[in-house]
Amino acid sequence: MTRLVTHDLAVHPTRDELAAQDFTSALRGHVLNHMAASLKSRFEAQIAPKLPAGASGRDVHAALKTDSYFRFYSALRLGAQEMVWSSVGDAVARESGTLAARAAALAADTTRAQGTLTLDPDLAVPRNVSAIDVHHMPGGYAAGDDIAAGAVYENGLSVFSFGLMGKNLDDIGESSAFWLTRSHPQFRPQSILDLGCSVGHQTLPWKRAYPDAVVTGIDVAAPCLRYANGRAQSQGVTAHFVQADATALPYPDASFDLVYSSMFLHELPLKDIHKVFAEARRVLKPGGLMLHYELPPNSQLSAYDGFYLDWDCWYNNEPFYKTYRDQDPVALCAQAGFPADGFFQTVVPSLGWYGETAVATALAGPATIGGNTGRLADGVQWFVYGNWA
Ligand SMILES: C[S@@+](CC[C@H](N)C(=O)[O-])C[C@H]1O[C@@H](n2cnc3c(N)ncnc32)[C@H](O)[C@@H]1O
Repeated sequence: MTRLVTHDLAVHPTRDELAAQDFTSALRGHVLNHMAASLKSRFEAQIAPKLPAGASGRDVHAALKTDSYFRFYSALRLGAQEMVWSSVGDAVARESGTLAARAAALAADTTRAQGTLTLDPDLAVPRNVSAIDVHHMPGGYAAGDDIAAGAVYENGLSVFSFGLMGKNLDDIGESSAFWLTRSHPQFRPQSILDLGCSVGHQTLPWKRAYPDAVVTGIDVAAPCLRYANGRAQSQGVTAHFVQADATALPYPDASFDLVYSSMFLHELPLKDIHKVFAEARRVLKPGGLMLHYELPPNSQLSAYDGFYLDWDCWYNNEPFYKTYRDQDPVALCAQAGFPADGFFQTVVPSLGWYGETAVATALAGPATIGGNTGRLADGVQWFVYGNWA
């Protein structure tokens, strides 16, 4: 379903390619809903009773490794992951010659939006991006000197998420901003920074939520930023995209009211996560907010559910995933100098899945991590945490 990419940088798959995309989305939906439910039932009935009390996620993994259904599940899930990228790659390749020109024309057209793009050709792309085909995306985020990698990422995400990321693939940002505007109506950020923004999916919702704010997205990957700039202009949202490393931000102390990230931290080595938190603390104004959407930590899940989320670390080329999920968010914030009484975490139901009324009602009650928290499956809910500076 590159069907969800409807702005001016959309590519044009053939009917056969669309069929392959639709099949891939449906296969992923089947694996992550129906097969996942069967796997859990099978684990509880046949494997859990044989595990010692206090078994860890690693013990669950060791026990499942030889299970035929788990192997079938993993093979199908990995196959579907590779099909995500192969189902969109040809359409992007066919149009790669014109995509950069289309993005440049959108950037130059200030009638719809007045966003900017600032690239730094001297920036060293860190190895967690340059040396890894992360989640099996061929070449990763920074491949090439045009915008094709951004197009592959967005079109791939459209197939990958089988509708669960919203009609603009921005459900995490929309849901996060909905939560913040409803829960802290007095907080009116004027300067917002999105770390590891990629093609800007979750950056633009902040400008929609806070139209007076200056919204900036940074990333190390120039192809994604070129694409993000054209995409934002096409959607009529003014945002500024800057090539920078979140571990060494090119901003003075106390520059931002809100520092946000989405699906970013689990792609960093632990030493860089510490640097990112320290940088967020440094560039936040007093009273500002650091806010992250991420996978819930292992310490707050059962051994099985923790292992289930860590599947990506073992089988999906996400080498830092489990190490990140083994961290305690409270400690990460405290080690960066955030005040302990400013920490919070919450669960935000997906705005696209549940709708505004149901989400507003849910947010009035206690935030509990449920079976679909952080899982791309029907009924998805987002785990969000942060610290006031
Ligand atoms: C999974 S994508 C995040 C996508 C986006 N935030 C969203 O939610 O749609 C992770 C992004 O982090 C970027 N990245 C990785 N390491 C980085 C670093 N040290 N500084 C800035 N960006 C980085 C990658 O280039 C990639 O675009």
